[in-house]
Amino acid sequence: MSSKFPDHFLWGGAVAANQVEGAYQTDGKGLSTSDLQPQGIFGAITPRVDGDSGIKDVAIDFYHRYPQDIALFAEMGFKCLRTSIAWTRIFPQGDEDVPNEAGLAFYDQLFDEMAKYGIQPLITLSHYEMPYGLVKNYGGWGNRKTIEFFERYARTVFERYKHKVKHWLTFNEINMSLHAPFTGVGLKDDSSKSEIYQAIHHQLVASAKAVKACHDIVPGGKIGNMLLGGILYPLSCKPEDVLETQRQNRDWLFFGDVQARGGYPAYMQRFFRENNIQVEITAEDRKTLRETVDFISFSYYMSGCVTTDEQQNNTARANILNMVPNPHLASSEWGWQIDPVGLRYLLNVLYDRYQKPLFIVENGLGAKDRIEADGSINDDYRINYLNDHLVQVAEAIDDGVEVMGYTSWGPIDLVSASKAEMSKRYGFIYVDRDDTGKGSLERRRKKSFYWYRDVIQSNGNSLKDKA
Ligand code: BG6
Repeated sequence: MSSKFPDHFLWGGAVAANQVEGAYQTDGKGLSTSDLQPQGIFGAITPRVDGDSGIKDVAIDFYHRYPQDIALFAEMGFKCLRTSIAWTRIFPQGDEDVPNEAGLAFYDQLFDEMAKYGIQPLITLSHYEMPYGLVKNYGGWGNRKTIEFFERYARTVFERYKHKVKHWLTFNEINMSLHAPFTGVGLKDDSSKSEIYQAIHHQLVASAKAVKACHDIVPGGKIGNMLLGGILYPLSCKPEDVLETQRQNRDWLFFGDVQARGGYPAYMQRFFRENNIQVEITAEDRKTLRETVDFISFSYYMSGCVTTDEQQNNTARANILNMVPNPHLASSEWGWQIDPVGLRYLLNVLYDRYQKPLFIVENGLGAKDRIEADGSINDDYRINYLNDHLVQVAEAIDDGVEVMGYTSWGPIDLVSASKAEMSKRYGFIYVDRDDTGKGSLERRRKKSFYWYRDVIQSNGNSLKDKA
């Protein structure tokens, strides 16, 4: 394929602190909400007891092994690595006046290691975790005070890393709070809609404050939001299905509308009114929200369908958002429907809507891998998935969409978010660890490692129109 990717396209991969670092109590780190969910982001909240070891406690031990892992990313030619800062390494309980120096020093070392190879960091301020202290003592994002704590944290890391990190993201998949309130906003999963939207509102205000802080502090810094790009199609062309699809897409686009357009979209008034949702939005909040993001980032794994037909609505649903399956698409082993064309469509939808640069910060195939007798791992299924999605990214660029970069999810195997499994692997690099935590943690290059290295080296020229 002749390359459509711009010269400075940011090729790379994406991980998150709680899914790779482990060391969950090392160097003064406090407990995060993620540490209390050993079963994953939808899992029950489990009180910690000494000696308890959810798989995330060690994860892939990135905290200690990052130099080796960064060297492997560099070998693939990464221009960019997305990871997150664990808020609890910096403010262990969340409400301290003074940050934890050991936590700050860890990320200094990590960013310095990346700089050795010219790998630019793309840093998420909060990826599915917050200090549990803020949940226990303040009620999480339900409390307006959490905005201040987050702003203090954001300003602290912007000051500290302003010469090392130029690209930032505020909240990972901010729209996920609608599906996993504890993970997203630190509320009980059975909270009322008013409570959830109030907490979301606080988070949106905090996001806008972080945008302002980044612009104030980081010279040349750019900051984006991060959406779970769960694009929906109507299951039929029945007008009611089309309208319902628009409504359901707005459930998540609403977040982008606030963050990129600077205020609540008109359609939310009716939604709040008809669902009897009360949200306190002050005049000051409205002013703060006018500070909009520089770019839009999103994850994309699959699309889904919408129908108003009750019977079809009840069919078995397997993917992360419980979407109605599309009869034209195949699914991964985890029931996530594979739709490369949907990525081109989504890029166009977002660009038409926001007219801001886009960054694909997650995309990939979670699959079981097999080690052959000769030690190789021939993950052609993963190569095909990524090839086909990247071809559609190239098409979108040709459509005129401004795409800053692409960081595939989990370039190294990590703990999955939804069920905290190791066997759901996304990596170009295999990590020897199983779902029970057994394994040497040794790293091993898969076939896709060499494939991705060639894609980056050729700036996309080595992609095949059809895998
Ligand atoms: C996104 C998250 O939802 O999808 C990641 O931002 C997550 O944290 C990824 O890992 C894939 O989901 P899973 O459940 O397969 O890990």
